[in-house]
Amino acid sequence: MEKILVLDFGGQYNQLIARRVRDNNVYAEILPYTTPIEKIKENNYKGIIFTGGPNSVYDDNSPHYSSEILNLGIPVLGICYGCQLIAFMREGKVSSSPVSEYGKIEVTLNTDSLLFKDIPEKSAVWMSHTDYISQPPQGFKIIGTTDNCPCAAMENPEEKIYAVQFHPEVTHSRFGKEILRNFLYLVCRCSGDWIMDDFIERTVAELREKIGDKKVILGLSGGVDSSVAAALISRAVGKQLTCVFVDQGLMRKDEGDFVEKTFTSLFDMNFVRVNCQEHFLSKLKGVTDPEEKRKIIGTEFFNVFWNEIRRENDKGFFAQGTIYPDCIESGKGDADVIKTHHNKVKMPDDVEFEGLIEPLCDLFKDEVRAVGEKLGIPRELVWRQPFPGPGLGVRIIGEITAEKVKILQEADAVFRDEMAKSGYESELSQFFAVLPNVKTVGVMGDHRTYEHLIALRAVTTDNFMTADWAQIPYDLLARVSNRITNEVEHVSRVVYDITSKPPGTVEWE
Ligand code: XMP
Repeated sequence: MEKILVLDFGGQYNQLIARRVRDNNVYAEILPYTTPIEKIKENNYKGIIFTGGPNSVYDDNSPHYSSEILNLGIPVLGICYGCQLIAFMREGKVSSSPVSEYGKIEVTLNTDSLLFKDIPEKSAVWMSHTDYISQPPQGFKIIGTTDNCPCAAMENPEEKIYAVQFHPEVTHSRFGKEILRNFLYLVCRCSGDWIMDDFIERTVAELREKIGDKKVILGLSGGVDSSVAAALISRAVGKQLTCVFVDQGLMRKDEGDFVEKTFTSLFDMNFVRVNCQEHFLSKLKGVTDPEEKRKIIGTEFFNVFWNEIRRENDKGFFAQGTIYPDCIESGKGDADVIKTHHNKVKMPDDVEFEGLIEPLCDLFKDEVRAVGEKLGIPRELVWRQPFPGPGLGVRIIGEITAEKVKILQEADAVFRDEMAKSGYESELSQFFAVLPNVKTVGVMGDHRTYEHLIALRAVTTDNFMTADWAQIPYDLLARVSNRITNEVEHVSRVVYDITSKPPGTVEWE
């Protein structure tokens, strides 16, 4: 398979570069700038992209790389900091500009360059820099300029080295996708063999080979990643796979049944559902502190899960739905490159497996979804909104009881139903109901009531680090409120949360 290396110098868009390359049907992997050149040589890359990164190539602590990498005969594209680094490595001159360029800027490109073939001479690109190349290295020609940047792009076509000061990977660069495509297909001469159908076929064959006649155990959460991993392994080895689904009773209405039905009716596997709401509620009795609730739910989840696994005599392999962003070593920081594995499960010492299987560890989330759809997982599961591990436990403020879980499930189901019927759900990143543990006075017929309050939360966001509260149309909110107060017992009032993040968080706890 053809591979492009994205050499990570610590910029903020680095995963995006790899994703954009893959959007063009070429596999890209990210390695930190601390990777030895020998490892790069072994890999037979079709091309290398240097990413953006911290400010100045002249800073003592800014990330550098051996200039030998430019002499390997492999095509190179430098982006932003990566562009300046190429100039620095080849003894051009990088200067600090009195005017920073930030945002959408008009660039003028030399369309004789392969990199800009069939791209208009003038277009908007996304810039974010203070330093710029004041003198390109010998052998390099300027192929792009802006008002404040005399070298917005340069090339050395004989050596197949290209560099752009702007960010072609972000959508604000109007022809960024085409520029990356030109690099991949015209400069690196890729043929485009990263195709999801092939991925499925190849992975299924590899899984069969690795697993042989052994068993596989996978913890299914009902989330996208573990579901797609389960479907893929099921296609490879059918009933040799056992999925363990711990239902702590804090999922949305009917969600546990839906997960069970999906995996028992559409896929060939052993499916073990452990229903343990009572156990969880007994552990959570009297607990009101959000962090303590989270801790108890997390700990008990794994206790139940591993106890179930211990009962299996023939354990075989352990499978997980770890995806690529969980495994990337970042190019941020210097010596102490940190591996983040927040999706990886810690195994107890007394449970032994033949080995670990992570069939999605090369895929980004959107690729995981594409594979899920191709494997026939229902859309509502593949396109599921994020749902916190502790489930409704962090949406019931204060003590969690079976009655409160039921009230919240019913109210949340009405909210989801109305949003689905109106088609408005596709406008939102996440929406749900919350039970704030507040009772208020109401009136029903001639009687005074004293019942629960339900809060509705809906946000739009790109990345969940910040979020805006969603401006849901009033008539839709009115329908949801009417139905909840009419249909859900013990609820007499509904409010809508109009807090953005920050200062609020998406969840209430
Ligand atoms: P916050 O509330 O921090 O949420 O603004 C951001 C995103 O993270 C989800 N979230 C969680 N996911 N375990 C999870 O797996 C948790 O404890 C948790 N808390 C929040 C939240 O639903 C939102 O998508």
